[in-house]
Amino acid sequence: MLNVHTLGVVGCSFQHVQNEQQIKFKQGLLIEQFKRIGKVAIAEIWEPLTGPHWGYRRKARMGVKYVAKKGRVLVGFRERRNQFLAEMESCKVMHPIVGEKLMDLSAMIGQLSIKDKIPQIEVAIGDEDCVLAFRVLEPATDEDKEIMRAFGHQHNISICLQSKGPDTIVPIEGEPELMLTYSLPEQGITFRFKPATFTQVNYEINRQMVSRVMQEMDFNEQDRVLDLFCGLGNFTLPIATKAGHVVGIEVNHAKDNAQFNKLTNVEFFVADLSKDVSDQVWARQKYNKVMLDPSRAGASEVLHNLKKWDPELVMYISCNPSTLARDAGILVNELGYTLVKAGVMDMFPQTGHVESIALFKK
Ligand SMILES: C[S@@+](CC[C@H](N)C(=O)[O-])C[C@H]1O[C@@H](n2cnc3c(N)ncnc32)[C@H](O)[C@@H]1O
Repeated sequence: MLNVHTLGVVGCSFQHVQNEQQIKFKQGLLIEQFKRIGKVAIAEIWEPLTGPHWGYRRKARMGVKYVAKKGRVLVGFRERRNQFLAEMESCKVMHPIVGEKLMDLSAMIGQLSIKDKIPQIEVAIGDEDCVLAFRVLEPATDEDKEIMRAFGHQHNISICLQSKGPDTIVPIEGEPELMLTYSLPEQGITFRFKPATFTQVNYEINRQMVSRVMQEMDFNEQDRVLDLFCGLGNFTLPIATKAGHVVGIEVNHAKDNAQFNKLTNVEFFVADLSKDVSDQVWARQKYNKVMLDPSRAGASEVLHNLKKWDPELVMYISCNPSTLARDAGILVNELGYTLVKAGVMDMFPQTGHVESIALFKK
């Protein structure tokens, strides 16, 4: 029997539950949290968006640990209740180009002189290429680099080294600089991104999710749209193919992809949306449609600005049903919006993570 306690254990905690049951359970949880936390009833529920149940994950941070007693290197994920690295031979939710190669990776790292100086690997898999960025606490020797380079060539993986923060990720000397890409064929958009850039982990569900947003928001030339927490423009750019003007707001810069896709009706601004933004140039304008896709903390701080922007439609994407439920409460019970529809999307099968979507109308 599933319960909320089971759901608290993230990672691959759901592997024993049938796929259809998993998503049904997540839907039940969303309905319950809307009612309990937000005091909002979901009158109409969206059919869950579903995709591949295995091998879907394209972004991850894997832990690495050299265990001297066993004389081997563990590569995998940290157990949630403690900081131990789960011993695993493969990871079935990860894209197989990496998920099926954990043992090979472990053996390769075991040959390095810095095998005990690599705490983690950033995994980023685009439409065409796969990058593994090794966080290194000490510089790799020439011999180490040769071993890594050979591994990369053998497995068609581009190996990078990261000496400090995410900006220090660079290919091993002599290897080409690589720009990862993913595309949204229905909207004719291609994104270029770096290994540490936020991208949705499940490309199939992402494509369906963007298409649903496009369909439900029905953008046209008259629309002035605000896309909050826009990341690299995953929604901003598709919206720009239909709407008159789109403004994307993010803590990081996202301009490059608008230029790359030759879209000129897009503006990006950098802002911290957990702070008061009401004085900022973009916040003093009007928008008739607003899109929100915050991180787990939700978007409560920025919601009050909706009074001023006065949009007729608000689309909210969330990776945390409890903050979505709380924010739905603000939208409906304080700001006078009606919840049109809500639902879940199977972005993270086999795990306790829940991705959801809700549409509000004035
Ligand atoms: C779930 S991601 C969504 C990104 C994008 N919409 C997408 O679909 O790829 C949330 C984004 O919110 C950004 N973010 C988190 N906290 C923020 C804040 N306080 N102010 C502005 N952006 C923030 C993160 O950098 C991240 O790109």
